[in-house]
Amino acid sequence: MKKILLSGVKPTGRPHIGNYFGAMKQFVELLSSGDYDCHIFIADYHALNLLQNATEMRQNILDLAIDYLAIGLDPHKATLFKQSDVSAHTELAWIFDTLVTMPYLMRAHAYKDAEAKNREINVGTFNYPVLMAADILLYDTDVVPVGQDQKQHVEYARDIAQKFNNTFGNTFKEPEALIIESVATVPGTDGRKMSKSYGNTIPLFASRDEIAKAVMSIVTDSGSDIPANVYAIHKLFKPENELKDTYDANKGKYKVLKDALIEDIDSYISPLREIRSDIASDTEAVRQILIHGAEMARERANGKLNKVKNTIGVA
Ligand code: AMP
Ligand code: TRP
Repeated sequence: MKKILLSGVKPTGRPHIGNYFGAMKQFVELLSSGDYDCHIFIADYHALNLLQNATEMRQNILDLAIDYLAIGLDPHKATLFKQSDVSAHTELAWIFDTLVTMPYLMRAHAYKDAEAKNREINVGTFNYPVLMAADILLYDTDVVPVGQDQKQHVEYARDIAQKFNNTFGNTFKEPEALIIESVATVPGTDGRKMSKSYGNTIPLFASRDEIAKAVMSIVTDSGSDIPANVYAIHKLFKPENELKDTYDANKGKYKVLKDALIEDIDSYISPLREIRSDIASDTEAVRQILIHGAEMARERANGKLNKVKNTIGVA
C-alpha cells in the first residue's frame, strides 16, 4: 500500500521560490518516487480570508493550477483539485469546531501574531487550523510536505485527530509533517523569510528582467567576503561544491556574484517558464483537470465523511 500524501497552496498570487523549494518541489519529487498516493490541492477557502475579489480569485486559482502542472505534477498520477469543489472539507471543519476550544486556537502562531499587531482578525483566520486539519484528516493522510511555517498547523491536525479519536473512537490517522531542513525557511532578498507580505520574493516563473531586478535588490552587508543573502539563495540553484570556486575567486565582488546568481536562476527557471506558457495556452484543458481531480477527491472524501457522520450519530 502506498502512503498517502496531501498538501495545498493558497491561490494568493504568483508562487515564489520559497514556496517552490520549501514545498512544491517536494510534491513533484515524492510523486515521481512512486511511493505516495498524492493529493495536491488549491486552498481557495483558506485564501478567501485574505483575498476577497472574485476576478482575482478566479484568475489565481487557474494560475496556480497551471503552476502545479508546469512544475511537473502529472494529473494522471496525482489527484489535483481545488478545496471548494469538495464540500466535505468545510463540513468536517464544522464537526471539528465542536471539539476544539477557543483558548487552544488562540495559541496558534498566526492568531498570536495578529493579536500582537493589534489587528482584528476574521473568524475564518481564527479557524484556519481547523479547516486545515479537515483538509488533511479527510484523506487519512500519512505525510504533509510543507515549509517550516506550517509545522504548527500539522501539529494541530494531529491534536484534532487525537481529540476526535478519544471522544468517538479510533477514526483518524495522525499525519506527519515532512519538512526538509535545508529549505524549511527559504530566505528572501532581505534575508528574512521569503514571503509575499514582506515584498522580498523572487517569483518562481519570473522573467529574466524580474530575476535581475530581484537579485539586484538583495541586501548585502558590506565588509563580508561572501554576501550571505546572495549565497543563501544561490545554493538553492547550484550545489555548494560548484559554487565554491566562484565565491572563492570573487571575494567581496558583489556585482559579479549577483550576475552569476541571475544567470543560474535564469537557466533553472527558463525551461519551467516555457513549459508554463505552453500549458497556459489551453486553459480549458486545465479546467478539465481540476474537474476530474475534484471528482476523484470527492469520492474519497465523501466516503470518509459518511463514516464520520455515522460515528458521531448524525447518520
Ligand atoms: P502558501 O503560499 O502560504 O500557501 O505556502 C505554500 C507552501 O510554501 C507552504 O508549504 C509553505 O510552508 C511554503 N513556504 C512559504 N514560504 C516559504 C519559505 N520562505 N520557505 C520555505 N517554505 C515556504
Ligand atoms: N496553510 C497552508 C499554507 O499557507 C495551505 C494549506 C491549506 C495546506 N490546507 C493545507 C497545506 C493542508 C498542507 C495541507 O501554505
